[in-house]
Amino acid sequence: MSKAKLRVTVLVSGGGTNLQALIDRIADGSLQNAAITAVISNNADAYALTRAEKAHIPGFCISPKDFGTRQEFNEALLRKVHETRPDLIVLAGCLIRIPDEMIGAYPNRIINIHPALIPSFSGKGFYGLRVHEAALQRGVRVSGATVHFVSSGLDEGPIILQKAVQVLEGDTPEILQRRIMEQAEWQILPEAVSLIADGRVACDENGRVVILPE
Ligand code: GRF
Repeated sequence: MSKAKLRVTVLVSGGGTNLQALIDRIADGSLQNAAITAVISNNADAYALTRAEKAHIPGFCISPKDFGTRQEFNEALLRKVHETRPDLIVLAGCLIRIPDEMIGAYPNRIINIHPALIPSFSGKGFYGLRVHEAALQRGVRVSGATVHFVSSGLDEGPIILQKAVQVLEGDTPEILQRRIMEQAEWQILPEAVSLIADGRVACDENGRVVILPE
């Protein structure tokens, strides 16, 4: 009998190119042992939901706008996530703060992609183009992307994979963002999911990630 695939729920807020990278790698067979079983967006207009629909993946919108309090929204989000019975939750351009209850319910089973080499340009306020604006302002020669487990500290969980990308003369935040997506994010996110699906990601006694050999 073949092994059950890792059930992946992807949380999104916007364009969903990282979601697309996962969909494409599953479709071309290079990401085996994993299936995206649900996509959840906090934003009804997110193009990521259209991408999910096109790939015949159930998509859901849980928006803070539909709830009276943040607590109610958090509870509804967690209920929906539970309903999708995920083995792994992937934050792929998810702009909402993940409630502590969810982090507690899925220890080391939530991963995030961040468009910089953590700990640089990470933490509070570093999202979207702001990350790349800050990198250019500082004049770094390399930036990149990081896939990490989600813990209660923002962008502080154990690092799974990182990939460096060169910053070039004349880069704008938009140009750098695109290069980092193409050369790093769209590669290391599917790779991290694949490693997890293959049972090759463990943590050592210091809480650091160890990639186990094949
Ligand atoms: C990416 O840069 C990702 O690293 C960050 O948000 C952006 C999302 O892009 N967390 P997309 O929605 O996957 O196109």
